[in-house]
Amino acid sequence: MHPTCNNSSSQEQECLRPIKICHNTGGDLRSVPGKRSQAYLDRQKQRESNARSYPRSIPLAIRAAKGIFITDADGKQYFDCLAGAGTLALGHNHPVVLAAMRQVLDESYPLHTLDLTTPIKDQFVEDLFASLPPAFAQQARIQFCGPSGADAVEAAVKLVKTATGRRTMLSFHGGYHGMTHGALSLTGKLAPKEAIAGLMSDVHFLPYPSDYRCPFGIGGEAGHRLSSHYIKHVLEDPESGINNPAGMILEIVQGEGGAIPAPDAWVQEIRKMTQERDIPLIVDEIQTGWGRTGKLYAFEHSGILPDVVLLSKAIGGSLPLSVVLYRENLDCWEPGAHAGTFRGNQLAMAAGIATLNYILEHRLMDWAAKMGDRLLQNLQSIQQQTRCIGNVRGRGLMIGVEVVNSDGQMCGEKYPVYPAMAQRIQAECLRRGLILELGGRFGSVVRFLPPLIVTTEQIDSISEIFAAAVQAAESQVLAEVGEC
Ligand SMILES: Cc1ncc(COP(=O)(O)O)c(C=O)c1O
Repeated sequence: MHPTCNNSSSQEQECLRPIKICHNTGGDLRSVPGKRSQAYLDRQKQRESNARSYPRSIPLAIRAAKGIFITDADGKQYFDCLAGAGTLALGHNHPVVLAAMRQVLDESYPLHTLDLTTPIKDQFVEDLFASLPPAFAQQARIQFCGPSGADAVEAAVKLVKTATGRRTMLSFHGGYHGMTHGALSLTGKLAPKEAIAGLMSDVHFLPYPSDYRCPFGIGGEAGHRLSSHYIKHVLEDPESGINNPAGMILEIVQGEGGAIPAPDAWVQEIRKMTQERDIPLIVDEIQTGWGRTGKLYAFEHSGILPDVVLLSKAIGGSLPLSVVLYRENLDCWEPGAHAGTFRGNQLAMAAGIATLNYILEHRLMDWAAKMGDRLLQNLQSIQQQTRCIGNVRGRGLMIGVEVVNSDGQMCGEKYPVYPAMAQRIQAECLRRGLILELGGRFGSVVRFLPPLIVTTEQIDSISEIFAAAVQAAESQVLAEVGEC
């Protein structure tokens, strides 16, 4: 099956001010930002918060978007491999998503409903439960949360603390769970935490297995075993300093942490040890959920069943929506224990139903696995032609390229990370019409998160642009060294 991306209807085109689109050939170099984008960016800079993030590395004003492409205010087109930080499973403005939203608008469905039920919500829950492994769905409850992923994380922490009567939370090095107080406390990245006093206390971080930069310095299966052995020891040791936890939160593939997939056997070990100790395992599928890693849910790779599953991003079909799914034995909180005004976004639920059904009908999770393999192979062959790529990794369409400095001093057998080069590569990709984001330690991992509808040809074009960008970035550095 080969997914297609239909052209927008003439009606849609009409409501957009006409712009001349420069089609992406992968070869044309452009000045970024263009003149019109720059004017918007200048006004954005004057008025918006200093905390704004993406416009700094992706300095564009977006004028139009369709499928995998976005068009900036200057009419230049880009492959969007950021896709709303992994949100846009079907790409921008997919026809089935637009049709679902139009139906809501045209048929007088309510738009705002708090957490009251509606036919759309009922259908969303039906379809969502049907998409889960039956053994989980049969005993599951759902809590609709405020609209962001971080809201789901906050709700899950309250849920497991209430159910267990415990206060300690476990998380992982490199984990990312959001920017609100509680979610940030569970996040590994130190920079956004430094200025914030009084984050949620009693959070402890455990080593996440990583083949490339193993926390124990040995890598491979032995490294994974050390990680699970260490975690088991922490849970058993009466002098570990860590109280019996209320829950453990885990990404099956770390996203913002640098596209690091956890090995299936390690995930199974974690599930076993948490189950044996009645520690609720919260699987954060906010980025991985709905097909991105090659399975509908990333936990399906290892065959485990979590106690709690967090979903957001893809489930709103590009609109804000987040939910917590959990085993009913955890349903101990009181009526109103978790609330929020914006838990009933009907447009998002309708768009979500359309997205899920499209993914299942077209087996986009299998397609993501296939396209992910192709991209991984393309990137590995680019790695052979350069000195600055240390590692290519990922699962499905969640792929990272770790940029290293091969002139730097090795730590063990690994070169140091090279964030300045990663930024150059990102900028050179942008100039060539490819939007990519950076993540990982010190922002040294170039991340690929294309929509699941990406075609084979697009994967190859993206790879070609990336190869050219890497070459250009390396030449720049060589020229600069030469000048010195
Ligand atoms: C795994 C994971 N959890 C939580 C979040 C937070 O979601 P949001 O940015 O919608 O609050 C993200 C966002 O990237 C994420 O990737």
